[in-house]
Amino acid sequence: MLEAQGITWTKDHKTILKTIDFHLLQGECVGFIGPNGSGKSSLLKILAFLETPTSGLLFFQGQSVPRNVPLPIRRRIAIVFQEPLLLNTRVFDNVATGLKIRGMAKGKIRERVDYWLEQFGVSHLTKQSARSLSGGEAQRVSLARAFALEPDVLFLDEPFSALDAPTKEGLRNDLGQVFKATHTTTVLVSHDFKDITHLASRALILLNGQIAAEGSPSELLKNPQKEEVARFLAHFSS
Ligand SMILES: Nc1ncnc2c1ncn2[C@@H]1O[C@H](COP(=O)(O)OP(=O)(O)OP(=O)(O)O)[C@@H](O)[C@H]1O
Ligand SMILES: [Mg+2]
Repeated sequence: MLEAQGITWTKDHKTILKTIDFHLLQGECVGFIGPNGSGKSSLLKILAFLETPTSGLLFFQGQSVPRNVPLPIRRRIAIVFQEPLLLNTRVFDNVATGLKIRGMAKGKIRERVDYWLEQFGVSHLTKQSARSLSGGEAQRVSLARAFALEPDVLFLDEPFSALDAPTKEGLRNDLGQVFKATHTTTVLVSHDFKDITHLASRALILLNGQIAAEGSPSELLKNPQKEEVARFLAHFSS
């Protein structure tokens, strides 16, 4: 689905990502985890075409991606950030806008928006102004908006980290159900290994802009492969 070969990203004479090789298979959820500043969001942004790597190659559905990424490819992906970025309109319009831009018929838009608001348990908020939502509600609307696009690849950058513990757990469970039903190809960044074990089938550990280890989350906990990875994962074994 998506592949990166030898990605390096340098900014202001600082190497942020070093020779990253990565592939994402259709239907899998891969989790990125690592300490603050290890390059998780940077790698996500490059894979989501929001930043251009200094060197290396990207392939989307087997095709090499040019540096100036064409709109039809950009429109095949969706991104959700830590802080929900909602438009100052009603909830319905927030979810509908991307579909309107893509030229979808009105009736189909309504059906799609209603369906995804329902999946994330926020259909009762459809007429409410997005500005007036609580953090948890806003993040549910952001996820509904992303899924409504039915993207080929979904990118989630710390989607729960602004939420309190019970809210986070509820949303993580709901997202898990949606993954089970849709098999959406996803990259999930989190600083909480529990999110990764719940939602991802494969984890990638980033340390200092490099992939330090990769494997199934439970396998990595049992066998961290390297001393530095073991030190990082020690924070999560209770
Ligand atoms: N546009 C940029 N220009 C310069 N430096 C950047 C830029 N984007 C990221 N960086 C630097 O790259 C490093 C990695 O940042 P990144 O945001 O990818 O880390 P992260 O793993 O997502 O961290 P966190 O867990 O805090 O979100 C940091 O040192 C950051 O300052
Ligand atoms: Mg980040």
